[in-house]
Amino acid sequence: MTDTPFALTGKTAVVTGGCGLLGTAMCRAFAASGAHVIITDVDRDKAEALAREITSSGHHAEAAVLDITDDESIISFVRETAEANEGIDIWVNNAYPRTSDWGTKFEDIPPASLRKNVDMQMNGYALCCQSVLEDMKERGLKGSLVNICSHYALVAPTFSVYDGTEMTMPAAYSLIKGGLLNFSRYLAAYYAQCGIRVNSVCPGGVFDGQPPSFVERYNDLTMLGRMAAPEDIAWPVVFLCSDAAGYVTGHSLVVDGGLTAM
Ligand SMILES: NC(=O)c1ccc[n+]([C@@H]2O[C@H](COP(=O)([O-])OP(=O)(O)OC[C@H]3O[C@@H](n4cnc5c(N)ncnc54)[C@H](O)[C@@H]3O)[C@@H](O)[C@H]2O)c1
Repeated sequence: MTDTPFALTGKTAVVTGGCGLLGTAMCRAFAASGAHVIITDVDRDKAEALAREITSSGHHAEAAVLDITDDESIISFVRETAEANEGIDIWVNNAYPRTSDWGTKFEDIPPASLRKNVDMQMNGYALCCQSVLEDMKERGLKGSLVNICSHYALVAPTFSVYDGTEMTMPAAYSLIKGGLLNFSRYLAAYYAQCGIRVNSVCPGGVFDGQPPSFVERYNDLTMLGRMAAPEDIAWPVVFLCSDAAGYVTGHSLVVDGGLTAM
């Protein structure tokens, strides 16, 4: 593996929200590809448990607390982590902070809640981008950053798949992910001359024990006839961060089993 451009040996990779459904799979995939993965999350215990699991299988990982809604915490985390590791080569914005009323019907969302979710998710990602991309630039590192978006950055939900369940697709999700997708293109253009690449990944729905009626209807929307597994998303993220994707920037990699291609 070390002699292919897919290998990440010697690279430092940071994943935000690294203990969640997708973050866990990404951290394992980065570590298995040879990177030193820094699992960041607001949940210290889970991050430490995942770091122990990864290091016990012979790979490199460490845990750190990083709250992407805390501006000072982002700045100091980037400064200290970059100093300790001679820079951060890879950064994945994947954390998913949301209010307790996330999912309220559009017409019923309290203005303060809408503002809060947009602030936590959009500004949280944007401020992480600002800190880490500037640090990469100052160090002359040809780093790679990926923003995790969604296929709902590209298309409207098919609301009927949620019929008869408690699930829905929050309005703010399309607002936020659509914005982050084009923001990723902005950053790709802005930092291209420094040799820094910025891309986004648009995962489709990931299976996580959703009600069978939903899963059946959702599966029918995809060409592959199934929801994603976390690993289906993790490996394309790793690819984008590797030298194998050295000529890929400003791209949105859609990983949705063909849903948006139909
Ligand atoms: N699960 C899906 O079906 C799906 C589909 C498309 C896109 N996505 C996107 O993938 C990303 C990860 O989603 P997931 O399903 O793994 O979510 P998840 O809820 O399983 O995990 C999110 C993680 O973020 C952490 N977190 C919450 N607030 C935080 C904060 N303020 N700072 C740092 N970390 C924080 C949580 O502790 C958790 O570990 C999100 O951006 C989500 O929008 C998910």
